[in-house]
Amino acid sequence: MTTEVKRVFSGIQPTGELHLGNYVGALSNWVKMQDEYDETIYCVVDLHAMTVPYDVEEFHAARLQTAKLLLAVGIDPDRSLLYYQSQVPQHAELAWILGTITGIGQLERMTQYKEKADKAGQNLGLFSYPVLMAADILVHRAHAVPVGDDQTQHLELTRDLVERFNHRFGEIFPLPERITPEIGARVMSLQDPTSKMSKSDPNPNSRILLVDDPDVIRKRIKSAVTDSETTVAYDWDRKPGISNLLEIFSFFSGRKIDDLVDEYAEGGYGRFKEAVAEAVIDGLTPIRTRYKQLDDAEVAHIMERGALDARARAERSMVEIRKAVGLAGY
Ligand code: TYM
Repeated sequence: MTTEVKRVFSGIQPTGELHLGNYVGALSNWVKMQDEYDETIYCVVDLHAMTVPYDVEEFHAARLQTAKLLLAVGIDPDRSLLYYQSQVPQHAELAWILGTITGIGQLERMTQYKEKADKAGQNLGLFSYPVLMAADILVHRAHAVPVGDDQTQHLELTRDLVERFNHRFGEIFPLPERITPEIGARVMSLQDPTSKMSKSDPNPNSRILLVDDPDVIRKRIKSAVTDSETTVAYDWDRKPGISNLLEIFSFFSGRKIDDLVDEYAEGGYGRFKEAVAEAVIDGLTPIRTRYKQLDDAEVAHIMERGALDARARAERSMVEIRKAVGLAGY
């Protein structure tokens, strides 16, 4: 069932507003891959987001807001399939099937599970989260998965499941490849550069949102935690705060880190941070502008159309998968 068509799949949770880490680590590749691959399929993974406690109204609003942001960053619904995971029940069906070949020990080793279970409490959905993620990717038989560095372990599990499934039931799934950017695969918190920038960090100063105003961006970068020295250098061990800002700067300016270090090494952190902030503002302004122009009803319509198409495609895969595992017919 492997085909010549090269397909991309990725997903994002509709929890809170999207931040710089999401964009640099993953979404910018989502956009780019629209030009490089035959098919790109992107999903707002609302079922995944239910694994931690949430407010129903806020959650419902966040789904649409996330869809809007994806359109604003440049996901083109005429070239990419975009939909809500919950609208395509085949994801959950395949997750069940994959669950039957997933070891408990393997799930217990997932660091994201351990972190989230510590904070939000354990539940079966959180525990089997990576199996649903594998199902997302495999129901579309994707070849490439653009994600940030924090999804590495989940992708490894997906690849294990592909090998196990194909060995047992026949060559159904291609082995999906993880795609991460060279620079910025792990954008760190502005307040603690040893932990990643995250939607769930209680301190809003730790992140920059894609829709933040220029003044907020300037303030957040100015107050980013660095170190007590004055020389700008790229050294993650000694200067994680500055190294994080250098990666962000390099991403938004399109310039090499070495070049930036040459230009900003002397002259102090103040001047450096101002330049970083301006580069980020230049990069995010078009996104914020497009976001404001998008109409909710139109976005809802795009998501509905996407779900119809995704359901049909996922069902075509499921017919093959059901046959392979012995569930076809009556
Ligand atoms: P989520 O919603 O937490 O994040 C969406 C994407 O953003 C990346 N990301 C980062 N990249 C760099 N630096 C950061 N600080 C940073 N924070 C987040 C994430 O790596 C991700 O690519 N489990 C996934 C969603 C998912 C999925 C899938 C992804 C569900 N099914 C299938 C790919 C394929 C998640 O929680 O991403």
